[in-house]
Amino acid sequence: MLTSARSLLGPMMLWALLLLPSSLSVHRRGWDNPSCTSGVVSVPRGERAEMACNISNPFYLITICLVVPGKECRFIFKDVAQGNVSRDGWQLRVQGCTAQLVTEKAQDTQAGQYKWEMVGHQRSVSFTTLNISEPPDLPFTPFFSRATSPEMTFSQPEAIPQHQRRTPMGPILLLLILSVLGLGLVLAWFRRRHSARTQQLLQEPVLS
Ligand SMILES: *[C@@H]1O[C@H](CO)[C@@H](O)[C@H](O)[C@H]1NC(C)=O
Ligand SMILES: *[C@@H]1O[C@H](CO)[C@@H](O)[C@H](O)[C@H]1NC(C)=O
Ligand SMILES: *[C@@H]1O[C@H](CO)[C@@H](O)[C@H](O)[C@H]1NC(C)=O
Repeated sequence: MLTSARSLLGPMMLWALLLLPSSLSVHRRGWDNPSCTSGVVSVPRGERAEMACNISNPFYLITICLVVPGKECRFIFKDVAQGNVSRDGWQLRVQGCTAQLVTEKAQDTQAGQYKWEMVGHQRSVSFTTLNISEPPDLPFTPFFSRATSPEMTFSQPEAIPQHQRRTPMGPILLLLILSVLGLGLVLAWFRRRHSARTQQLLQEPVLS
């Protein structure tokens, strides 16, 4: 008697559990079923990065924060409705059921895990991760950094032929001239200031 009741109860409970989500979804006009960029989005520094979340219902509100280990999540966007908003180098585009988080020039400070709190018909939370990698070396970069100091790279446009690039005399001379000019200006300024000061000092006793 008892065993047959228990064996009946098992399948009945299973059916009840299976039917529960579908009956709830009818009342709630459908689940949001969030689907976000999965895995790690990895871009070289300075490049465009994009992460996105879709839900099955139009977004009502969305909040995104950057997870800081051991601290409170740092808000990037809070309670954003439909439309485009920008902040801290990020743009959030919320259009219908899609939300895109876009940065045109990814920086190291933007790397990390992003927590998305989404409200459509329900409230759901998802995470996406951004990794910033070293940009690939440009072919001529190592040559410049070895041959000249970093401040002088500005005076070496790409158009200069290879044989001229090997002799850094031009830039050095330019730098020397600029330094002498700068020093002259600074000295002249000091002399003017000094004479103004002595004049002031000479006048002071008379005034008081
Ligand atoms: C979101 O939806 C768009 C268009 O329906 C699709 O192209 C994109 O891959 C989706 N993104 C995610 C993360 O599900
Ligand atoms: C948001 O930005 C995207 C891409 O720049 C653009 O296509 C869209 O029209 C903008 N939407 C609004 C509401 O400004
Ligand atoms: C991020 O990228 C760097 C270099 O590309 C890699 O070494 C590191 O493992 C990556 N981190 C994650 C979490 O994928």
